[in-house]
Amino acid sequence: MKKIVILISGRGSNMEAVVRACAREGWPARVCAVISNRPDAAGLGFAAANGIETKVVDHRQFDGRESFDAALAREIDRFEPDLIVLAGFMRVLTDAFVGKYAGRMLNIHPSLLPCFPGLRTHQQALDAGVRVHGASVHFVTPTLDHGPIVAQGAVPVVAGDDAAALAARVLKVEHDIYPRAVRWFIEGRLSIEGERVALTPSEPQWLFADIAGEGV
Ligand code: GRF
Repeated sequence: MKKIVILISGRGSNMEAVVRACAREGWPARVCAVISNRPDAAGLGFAAANGIETKVVDHRQFDGRESFDAALAREIDRFEPDLIVLAGFMRVLTDAFVGKYAGRMLNIHPSLLPCFPGLRTHQQALDAGVRVHGASVHFVTPTLDHGPIVAQGAVPVVAGDDAAALAARVLKVEHDIYPRAVRWFIEGRLSIEGERVALTPSEPQWLFADIAGEGV
């Protein structure tokens, strides 16, 4: 049974998608803890209600990134996880922290990387005039919103979209690709080859959503 620790900062809908898929599909894995850097993160309620241990490591209680990351790592390590899943975890992590969990920490970013790293990705996409936008699941490396890509989901940008409408369309595809990517890791099917991630046996590492949000 593999062990997963999920880090959140807010709503936690991606965490919820992973927890639900793990239970529904009977993964040989267990989400053993959900840790938030914000005490008011809404996702903590879902986790606790589903019998998952929750913990808050409030970044405001620390005087720097190093001390926060060290405290966070201590909490994570209590669970001896095989995989750390960043699900809307809104903290820039130190190189030491990233290095400690190299090859076993995944993140989801709401853009088709390498386009639009950072914040306000949906507005960035609208401003750039792209016609296709989406989300990426990637292994975490020291460079923010960068790292070998495990899966991507694409959605159209349509007339009349604002950032909120686009975000909602992307979020649906996030809830599809993130559980898939986590399951592949759990099944031991991912290997990092330079900048690329190989999935064995192979299956599509992309998903195209139609306008109604259905994958094809
Ligand atoms: C998602 O769009 C995720 O890609 C981004 O932050 C958002 C978090 O949403 N990093 P949730 O907390 O998973 O609902």
